[in-house]
Amino acid sequence: MSSATDAAWKALEAHRDELGRISLARLFAEDPDRFARFSLVLDDLLIDLSKNLLTAETLRLLLDLARAAEVEAWRERMWAGERINTTEDRAVLHVALRHRGPEPIFCDGRDVMPEVRAVLARMKAFAHEVRSGSWRGATGAPITDVVNIGIGGSDLGPQMVCRALAHLARPDLRAHFVSNVDGAQLAATLARLDPARTLFVVASKTFTTQETMQNAASARAWLTAALGEAAVARHFVAVSTNARAVAAFGIDPERMFGFWDWVGGRYSLWSAIGLSIALHLGFERFEALLEGGWAMDRHFRTAPLERNAPVLLGLVGIWYRDILGCSTHAVLPYDQRLERLPAHLQQLDMESNGKRVRRDGRPVERPTAPVVWGEPGTNGQHAFFQLLHQGTEIVPCDLLAAALPDHDLPGHHEKLLANLLAQGEALAFGKDEARVRAELAAAGLTGDALEALVPHKVFPGDRPSTTILFRRLDPFTLGRLIALYEHKVFVQGVIWGIDSFDQWGVELGKELAARILPDLAPEATPAPRDPSTAGQLAHLRRLRAEPGA
Ligand code: F6P
Repeated sequence: MSSATDAAWKALEAHRDELGRISLARLFAEDPDRFARFSLVLDDLLIDLSKNLLTAETLRLLLDLARAAEVEAWRERMWAGERINTTEDRAVLHVALRHRGPEPIFCDGRDVMPEVRAVLARMKAFAHEVRSGSWRGATGAPITDVVNIGIGGSDLGPQMVCRALAHLARPDLRAHFVSNVDGAQLAATLARLDPARTLFVVASKTFTTQETMQNAASARAWLTAALGEAAVARHFVAVSTNARAVAAFGIDPERMFGFWDWVGGRYSLWSAIGLSIALHLGFERFEALLEGGWAMDRHFRTAPLERNAPVLLGLVGIWYRDILGCSTHAVLPYDQRLERLPAHLQQLDMESNGKRVRRDGRPVERPTAPVVWGEPGTNGQHAFFQLLHQGTEIVPCDLLAAALPDHDLPGHHEKLLANLLAQGEALAFGKDEARVRAELAAAGLTGDALEALVPHKVFPGDRPSTTILFRRLDPFTLGRLIALYEHKVFVQGVIWGIDSFDQWGVELGKELAARILPDLAPEATPAPRDPSTAGQLAHLRRLRAEPGA
């Protein structure tokens, strides 16, 4: 840690101690311009930070921290194709995937844009063939169902986008997502499908991931049992960086859509991993998503730090995580279509910044990524919002909504929006004892009965939220939102000094699973291991060996 960042952290801690308990009601009363001062408008996109537990001085000190950590320089390093993913010795250039301008983007001295555009052109042609019905299955039937087989970034991103924008999809071309090695998911999906009309997209950056390889092999067996080996060519395509493994699986490299090692899994929906998006929604929608991502990139790259949305979201997150000690962060879209957004952002944030050592291998000195979680509103209100309002933890929340719906059912959207606005207000301002007493008295309660209820009915308030509002949930806006969060995570990773683009923490479990797997076979003599794992394994072996099992 440099002495400049050290000083910036210390200044923030001193500032926190000076502020003491922060009252949002008081901050709003003291500054009539607080809403305007603490919100950003990017076209139709409003990002309201005013209900966060901070002052202008807090932001000033956070911006000092960003400058001391050289956020702007790291951002330029990313765009310059430097190998900022140091532990994997790779560049980080997902921004090139959505770059729509004529400028080159270099990696190892080569402009990557011609290759990016060439893959996009192939995706466009293929999506058109499938969607127009000119691509036929082995029996001559058109494709009606696309099954994306992938996991992690090869599943969550495209799945989230397809669900979010399903209102733009054609009903006769459905998208399915199979990720889990639990065969229950694939079996339930296949049970609804006709092999003659099904196209499998095997999406895997490495093409070695156990879950994906198992699901792809089972899907292949299902298809060939119905249509024969020769049908594979018409019903399987691959998205990968590993052409050799794709060919070994039996998919013609001609039917492989490539991408590059400088695209991290959780940042890959903009690459050919988005093929299922282009198939389900149409290539123009996929392009509009890229346009949205690019719009946010230009904002991130050019806006001054103090008006820079990803920078501000990142800094506010740092304030909660490191200075106020909040360990979780809730993403609460008031939009059922964004049901999978929390899961996507969970991988984005926790796999990127869930690290305990810095780039140079030394321990990080402060807490890194929060636990990211969430569910759509209003559902969450009837489940876990109790804790958000009256629990002992402060959980900073993001509330998101579109001003306009894409359905024509009257009465729904106004109620949805009223609930979003009400929650932000209730979290921030709560309900104090005096009001609770007055309400109970008005309801006819007196004396001990009234007093006994008061503490239960008080809402302490000062529970922070950031509200993000936009006109409609369309591909362009979704692209902006995803890129907004990607860059927020980037900013935080730079400030913590970690490599946000590796994921070594997922490896040990994979390694041990490979070692345990043979010991599940009935004839195996299990290798010695710790008493708990050995006991669990023995129990499973016994149950699996029971007559009739
Ligand atoms: O195990 C973690 C991970 O490597 C993620 O980072 C990635 O998104 C996912 O697995 C899938 O990897 P692949 O696309 O190589 O199958």
